[in-house]
Amino acid sequence: MELLVVMDPLDTLEQRGDTSIALLSAALERSHSSFWCTPGDLWLADGIVGAEVTAVAGSPDGLVVSSGTPMARPLAEFDVVLVRSDPPVDSAYLAMTLLLEHARGQTLVVNDPRGLREANEKLYACRFPDVMPAHLVSADRSRLVAFAARFDGAVLKPLDGHGGHGVVRLEPDDPSAAMIVDHITDGGRRPVMAQEFLPGVIDGDRRILLLDGEPLGAVLRRPAPGEFRANLVLGGTAEVVGLDDADHRIIEAMAPRLRADGLAFVGIDVIDGRLSEVNVTSPTGLRQLTELSGTRPDLVVIDWLEGKSASR
Ligand SMILES: Nc1ncnc2c1ncn2[C@@H]1O[C@H](COP(=O)(O)OP(=O)(O)O)[C@@H](O)[C@H]1O
Ligand SMILES: [Mg+2]
Repeated sequence: MELLVVMDPLDTLEQRGDTSIALLSAALERSHSSFWCTPGDLWLADGIVGAEVTAVAGSPDGLVVSSGTPMARPLAEFDVVLVRSDPPVDSAYLAMTLLLEHARGQTLVVNDPRGLREANEKLYACRFPDVMPAHLVSADRSRLVAFAARFDGAVLKPLDGHGGHGVVRLEPDDPSAAMIVDHITDGGRRPVMAQEFLPGVIDGDRRILLLDGEPLGAVLRRPAPGEFRANLVLGGTAEVVGLDDADHRIIEAMAPRLRADGLAFVGIDVIDGRLSEVNVTSPTGLRQLTELSGTRPDLVVIDWLEGKSASR
């Protein structure tokens, strides 16, 4: 198969930890010709959507590197276009998904650009209220402060954040609560996600990777000392864990909707048996899952993409 990954620039990514690189590497291992481009490399001209793409190859020391010079190719020539560019989901991201719409029916685009527009990473979890922690999405100061007081504190998150950025903990009686809320809502202009603080986060946040609504495996991320955010980019440590009943209940609740929205490769965050976030743009954790489990979920993803594209 010919695979194109739309992603952040190859040389800016961390070779040993990055999931996009892990997938390119697995595709090379299966002898698929593989290419990358950035969202800014996409173009639409005379009804044809294409990109300036660069081939990749494995280097002798096991890295994934660019090979040859960029070339202009229609997306229709690829069997699979895997969309993996990092947030923010801003107007440039939106433009990328709209350009990719023009390739609909000509190639397999994963995740589906319509699903990527539909599924804000924080709000999408609210589609499954039965498995979510208590939550409130609002820009209103008094509502948010009252919410934090109702529980043993709250976690406030910008709707467009990732990697733990901007996620703050609000104590129930924090004297600075109003100020913190005003800051994160930009003075009441920007709605944020508030969730009850789940004390179990100290024992970790489970990243479960899903492929077509089925679990590939789970990595438990524990926060670094003095931190409640378990994101690996913030120094969280990772270990592989099995799935428990709560995990299966969450996945069952989500799978039909994920499939309907074309969200084939996603990472969900589960704390204390509750769904806190659904990562659809560029879920991470595949490298850790592969290395720590001794299994090959990376090849499972590539083989699934190949089978799916062949059956189109
Ligand atoms: N409801 C919660 N209770 C306690 N900790 C939380 C809660 N929600 C998130 N966290 C912590 O904050 C981190 C980042 O939150 P998350 O919703 O996953 O956003 P991001 O997109 O930044 O990863 C999580 O990995 C977890 O450690
Ligand atoms: Mg997260």
